[in-house]
Amino acid sequence: MHSDKKTVLLGVTGGIAAYKSCEIVRGLQKAGVRVKVVMTENATKFVTPLTFRALTHEEVAVGMFDDAPSDPIHHISLAEEADLFLIAPATVNVIAKIANGICDDLLTTTACACTAPLVVCPAANVHMYESPANQRNMGLLALHGAKIIEADAGYLACGDIGKGRLADVDEIVRQTLLELGLTGDMRSTSVLITAGPTIEPIDPVRYITNFSSGKTGYALAKAAHERGADVTIVSGPVAVEAPEGVHVIPVRTAREMRDAVAEAFPACDIGIFAAAVADLRPKGEADHKLKKGIDDAALQTIELAQNPDILAEMGAHKQEGQVVVGFAAETNDVIANARKKLLAKHADMIIANHVGRGLAFGTEGNEIWMVTPDGEEHVPYMLKPELAHVILDKTIELMG
Ligand code: PMT
Repeated sequence: MHSDKKTVLLGVTGGIAAYKSCEIVRGLQKAGVRVKVVMTENATKFVTPLTFRALTHEEVAVGMFDDAPSDPIHHISLAEEADLFLIAPATVNVIAKIANGICDDLLTTTACACTAPLVVCPAANVHMYESPANQRNMGLLALHGAKIIEADAGYLACGDIGKGRLADVDEIVRQTLLELGLTGDMRSTSVLITAGPTIEPIDPVRYITNFSSGKTGYALAKAAHERGADVTIVSGPVAVEAPEGVHVIPVRTAREMRDAVAEAFPACDIGIFAAAVADLRPKGEADHKLKKGIDDAALQTIELAQNPDILAEMGAHKQEGQVVVGFAAETNDVIANARKKLLAKHADMIIANHVGRGLAFGTEGNEIWMVTPDGEEHVPYMLKPELAHVILDKTIELMG
C-alpha cells in the first residue's frame, strides 16, 4: 500500500511549539514522505488529534490502551512501520524519559521499541533547556545514536529570551530528509578528499612536515556529507575531529596517502586534493634515533627524495565524468601559478590561496580564487565551513 514511500513517525509532545508540527507534516509530505503521528496526552491540549488526522489521512495514535487502533499491540506496529522516528517538539520531560528507558505512555513506549533512526527536536524554556539534567539527557540520547536538532535562540513563548525555541521547521524537514537519504544536491555522489599535512620520518622521533591543520579538508568533507554525498577523507595526522558520517582513512606519509587515494579514487565522482603533501622526504628513515656526537653527518645533511605527486597522478588517470579539484598554496603570482598547476596536474579546478599573510594554513577562514580553464573567480575572506560550500557549488557546476 505504502511500499514505495518512506514513513516518518512524527512524535508530538506537549509544548506550545506543537502547532509547528503541522508545518513539519506538510514539509515532509511535499517531499513525498508518508507521515504518521503519535501524540502524548499533553500534546493533545495544544493541537487536536483531528488536526493531524486531517493532515495525514492516517490514524493518530495517543493512548496506550485506546480501542480504535487497527493493531492491538500498537507501540510495536508503529515502531515497525517507521523508517525514521522524529520527535518535534520534544519536551524536557519526554527527552528525560526516552534517554532513560522510561515507557509510561504510547509515545515513549514506541520510542523504546523503535529501531529506526531517532531525530529529536527539543523545545523548552531557556532555563529548562539549559538545565544540567536536560543537557545530560540530550547527551545520553546522542550517545545512544539519536540525532539532536538543537533548539534556536530567540524570544520564547514564556517571555524569556534565550535558547529553547524549536529549530526552524524548514531545517527540521531538511535534516529529516537527509537522514532518510532523500535529499541533498550531492546525493548519489561519492567524494574523496585529501586533508591535512603528511609527515615524512627522519628517524623514529623526528619528521618533516608543514603547518596544514586539516580544517579546510574536514570542512569540505562535512559540507559534502551535509549535502548528501558519500564522503571519504584520506587524512594526514590532524587534531581536527572527524565529521559524523564520513569515512576517514588515516595516513602518515605521502606514499601512504598515494596508496590510499589510488585505491579509493577510481570509485569516486569527485576528488578534492586539499592536503598539503610534502614534496620531498628523507631518503631513508633511520631505524634508530640519530644521536648528536654519533650521527652528526646524518643529522646535518638529510638527503631528500621526491614524493609521488598524488594530484598529478589522479588527474592524469581520471575517468570520463570524474572531476578533480586541486589546491595551490602560493606566496606570489597566485593566479598564474595556480593556472600552471591546473594544466600540469590535469585538474578541472585549482583553489588558489595566498599564503604567508596570516591566511590559509591553520586559520579559521581564508580568501581564495577558483581557477578553471574558463577563468577565475575571487571568493572574499570567509570561514572555512562557508568556503567549503562555495567550493562545492562550483565543483557541482563543473560536473555538468
Ligand atoms: O589544512 P588547513 O590548515 O586548513 O590549510 C589549508 C591548506 C592551505 C593546506 C589548503 O588549502 C591547501 O592549499 N592545500 C594544498 C597545499 C599544497 O600542498 O599546495 P601545493 O601548491 O604544494 O600543491 C598543489 C596541489 O597538489 C595540492 O592540491 C596538493 O594536495 C597536491 N599535491 C602536492 C604535492 C604532492 N606530492 N602531491 C599532491 O597531491
